[in-house]
Amino acid sequence: MGKVYVFDHPLIQHKLTYIRNKETGTKEFRELIDEVAGLMAYEITRDLPLMDTTVETPVATAKAKVLEGKKLGIIPILRAGLGMVDGIKQLIPTARVGHVGLYRDPETLQPVEYYVKLPSDIEERELLVVDPMLATGGSAVEAIHSLKKRGAKNIRLICIIAAPEGVELVTKEHPDVDIYLAAQDERLNEKGYIIPGLGDAGDRLFGTK
Ligand code: URA
Repeated sequence: MGKVYVFDHPLIQHKLTYIRNKETGTKEFRELIDEVAGLMAYEITRDLPLMDTTVETPVATAKAKVLEGKKLGIIPILRAGLGMVDGIKQLIPTARVGHVGLYRDPETLQPVEYYVKLPSDIEERELLVVDPMLATGGSAVEAIHSLKKRGAKNIRLICIIAAPEGVELVTKEHPDVDIYLAAQDERLNEKGYIIPGLGDAGDRLFGTK
């Protein structure tokens, strides 16, 4: 069964409060989402493998470590997931970025794939699927399904806020995928918004309505 991690780091929790605040404007909202995504990536990459090396300092040879070179990929779910990419790329500049776009079919209400562009060696990469809000879980489940269909084997899901419904659906449908959150909130309302949440993440990131 996939594990669910909620990061209680004080910097993440402090910034999350400002992200939730309805008075926070687009510029600050974007910056904060990037910063929280970066801090989450910092925690998530704690287990990246290292290898031994040596380095010449100005005075001697030091035993040292470098990353073993595990290949990473960042996969934003369009469109709100885009808001988390730069913050993670700052920490992992060599990560490839793939995109998955889904829309909700107005009749079936099911998510339907409309755009998928991925690194060619996706099966070798550790993929970080990012979307700020894990609401019903329908989009995340479908996005992960799209990646697996194309050969992805190692997938982690990173969201800023989740509803219990979304966490339950993802863990049921993809028990091999661990979920990383800054907060798990109370519930979804009748319109599918996370309560208390932060409103519509895409609209707040891109200044649309
Ligand atoms: N998507 C959002 O942007 N916000 C929610 O509360 C739920 C889904």
